[in-house]
Amino acid sequence: MNQEILPIYNALNEFKQKDPISFHVPGHKNGYLIGERCKNIQQFLEKDVTELTGLDDLHSPEGAIKEAMELLTDYYGTVKSYFLVNGSTVGNLAMVLSVCNEGDYVAVQRNCHKSILNALKLAKVHPLFIYPEIDQELGMPGGIEPGSLKNTFSKYKAIKAVIVTYPNYYGKTCDLKAIIELAHSHDIPVLVDEAHGAHFRLGNPFPPSAVELGADMVVHSAHKTLPAMTMGSYLHINSRRISVSKVEEYLGILQSSSPSYPIMLSLDFARYFLATFSREDIEFTMQEIKGFVDGLKRVSPLKVKEQKNGDPLKVSIYVEGVSGFELQKVLEENGVYGELADSYQVLFIFPLLKRGTTYPYTEALLRIQAAFENNIPVSQGKTVESDSSFIRSVRPLAITYKEMEYTPKETIQISNSINRIAAEMVIPYPPGIPLLMPGEEITKKHMQAISRLLEENANFQGNSQQLKKGVIRVFS
Ligand SMILES: Cc1ncc(COP(=O)(O)O)c(C=O)c1O
Repeated sequence: MNQEILPIYNALNEFKQKDPISFHVPGHKNGYLIGERCKNIQQFLEKDVTELTGLDDLHSPEGAIKEAMELLTDYYGTVKSYFLVNGSTVGNLAMVLSVCNEGDYVAVQRNCHKSILNALKLAKVHPLFIYPEIDQELGMPGGIEPGSLKNTFSKYKAIKAVIVTYPNYYGKTCDLKAIIELAHSHDIPVLVDEAHGAHFRLGNPFPPSAVELGADMVVHSAHKTLPAMTMGSYLHINSRRISVSKVEEYLGILQSSSPSYPIMLSLDFARYFLATFSREDIEFTMQEIKGFVDGLKRVSPLKVKEQKNGDPLKVSIYVEGVSGFELQKVLEENGVYGELADSYQVLFIFPLLKRGTTYPYTEALLRIQAAFENNIPVSQGKTVESDSSFIRSVRPLAITYKEMEYTPKETIQISNSINRIAAEMVIPYPPGIPLLMPGEEITKKHMQAISRLLEENANFQGNSQQLKKGVIRVFS
């Protein structure tokens, strides 16, 4: 197919040429109601239309949207690919719900995104959580070992699906090929949350993509590493093990009935951007990253964690004895914003740059140098140990999702919570990977990790006010 065309962009432009007068939703009337105050978004809102004649319908595509999704399917080489307007969150929900039935046993990587955990709860399955290796370089949980999955298969016979996150938030990959081969040798589908790897399709030096490795279904947050708008994501069906009609049914149920045209337009553009990204563009991107990373290494006392097995668009930086949260604060005070901070480091995500595009890397370096000229605060020199107690183990929840519905809950002091069963998620955000989930037994390590993150002023989603008061919900 001709990957140079942009069907949704063309359809929207043709529509604009008709000088349309709006008596339809959305209420901003093609941006007409945006007055002087926010004039600069008026032009943008002209593209924010609805399912008018010639503009197709995401839920029943026959025209420009169908063509754009066919181009996406062609580019990734899948059975069928879809635009998502509600993020990878909706992709993960649709992926799990379309494959898993109530009561099924499902093998899941424990350090998955909360959307996977929510999907498991909605599907009322029995999750078998596979605990990952600790990535020694990052000091954080990495991917799962094929050996851990093998162990899970030998302990639990009737597993219906394997759910893996690849790569993790920091761009680290695992031996996904071996995991897929193992699952397929039992004829079990592998569902991959590849939210951070939409660009892996570009090939070397990026890791192999989950689609190429033969995963049965794959979710991509196009908005994370491609030039797509926030919430713009892709869902790929990549094998005959997956029912197209079931997936489409769930996408129809879970996605907005008023899908955003700006998001779809940006998804079409992101596919075009990738499909026309040349070898020279990749080399240029890598050269620019190298120049910046070399510059970072010259800023004392900053240290750079080089990406070995993983995504070269991601790099973590740290300073000995300083928490990532403190480092983040200093960088932000100097106008440099990373993706996230944790106890150890700050994570940067670099852009894919077409040859000749300029990006303010030099200015960023100058600002970072300036940050370090004004002594950065040093923490108490505390060292943070990672939790290795569960490595290579597989655990079901202490109580099932069904039991959770009728078991009473109570609020207790976090300091008294060891051996109790959590009734809520504790989610440091970003990255949105729950430290604790409902139905999980609270250990001393969980308690220590929560206390440490609270001390470090980390952000939590959900019940952060209660956590800050030192209390947590548990099952009675
Ligand atoms: C691994 C992973 N999966 C899924 C998601 C959800 O993606 P979205 O924000 O596109 O809904 C995220 C978001 O950070 C993520 O990190």
